[in-house]
Amino acid sequence: MSAGVEVRVEGLSKSFGRSNIWSDVSLTLPPGEVSVLLGPSGTGKSVFLKSLIGLLKPEKGSIFIHDTDLVRCTESRLYEIRKLFGVLFQDGALFGSMNLFDNIAFPLREHTRKGEKEIRDIVLEKISMVGLSGDEGKLPGEISGGMRKRAGLARALVLDPEIILFDEPDSGLDPVRTAYLNQLIIDLNAQTDSTFLIVTHDINTAQTVPDNIGLLYRKHLAMFGPREVLLTSEEPVVSQFLNGRRQGPIGMSEEKDSEQAAREMQEMEGELPGLPPLKPQIAVSPGVPERKAVARRQSRVQSMMHELPANAQAAIRESLQRNGGAHRRDGDYPTEQFTR
Ligand SMILES: Nc1ncnc2c1ncn2[C@@H]1O[C@H](COP(=O)(O)OP(=O)(O)OP(=O)(O)O)[C@@H](O)[C@H]1O
Ligand SMILES: [Mg+2]
Repeated sequence: MSAGVEVRVEGLSKSFGRSNIWSDVSLTLPPGEVSVLLGPSGTGKSVFLKSLIGLLKPEKGSIFIHDTDLVRCTESRLYEIRKLFGVLFQDGALFGSMNLFDNIAFPLREHTRKGEKEIRDIVLEKISMVGLSGDEGKLPGEISGGMRKRAGLARALVLDPEIILFDEPDSGLDPVRTAYLNQLIIDLNAQTDSTFLIVTHDINTAQTVPDNIGLLYRKHLAMFGPREVLLTSEEPVVSQFLNGRRQGPIGMSEEKDSEQAAREMQEMEGELPGLPPLKPQIAVSPGVPERKAVARRQSRVQSMMHELPANAQAAIRESLQRNGGAHRRDGDYPTEQFTR
């Protein structure tokens, strides 16, 4: 499998007609690392993913992958670059009339000249990676939502993508299935060393899966950086989000005006829960080799330590100490295969 690639987004802005979705978004997805993008509903997270694969065209800014600017390149170059991506859409986006095998084989038949024998080997390998062996003859309508997600994931993997985008992989799953899926995501990252970007509303996923977290808010990328920065941030919007509470700057349909938010915060003074405690990041399952991104991230984060807020620095030091340099904590996670 190919190793992950850096994705560098610079000053990106996207509008539909007169309605601006977000502006001046800049971030770098470090190669092979897992990043999460958070944000209230409707802030344009899915639009951001679609922009990354060139399905939507931002009017300003750049997206650099392998020295190509996706916003400006030719259609044929864009077609080539797109093959580097695997995408897990929210609903799995499977063809209802095709069984799982044909759904998962589809990108191989469409984009490669591989023969049916080789296609079969690849499809069965990916099916087993996501724990669906034996189900390849079933139609999407005959399996559960969690199984459809995993089938969508297998399809996202068949072209050995360098970058994998997940749009709410955990929506509609119960907490146990979400925990298994998150473990699968970490193990896949170890096996592929691909660059992952996950959009999620699940706080537990945000706390335990990524190396980096970003937050889209008020039409801007409010933060992007090592997980410890957001997870220890005292910004009201962050603690509102992480605690899933009503009081704070985020409203039901749009952001509240700042006066109302300030009033609510004042009324709640002294009662507001602080930030939830920092949870350790999920380690790879026993028997799975360590993620290559771990060591790269350690040196990357250490080199940017001095730029980080004090809370984040303390949290990073603590996690380095706890792991004693080694990341794996054998025995913490279930060893059985992902089951439905
Ligand atoms: N093709 C399109 N044409 C016009 N407007 C669009 C298009 N796609 C998305 N939008 C608008 O862009 C905004 C952001 O949508 P998007 O789906 O990216 O939100 P989101 O952050 O993914 O929300 P959620 O968390 O609910 O999935 C919405 O107001 C939506 O109506
Ligand atoms: Mg969305």
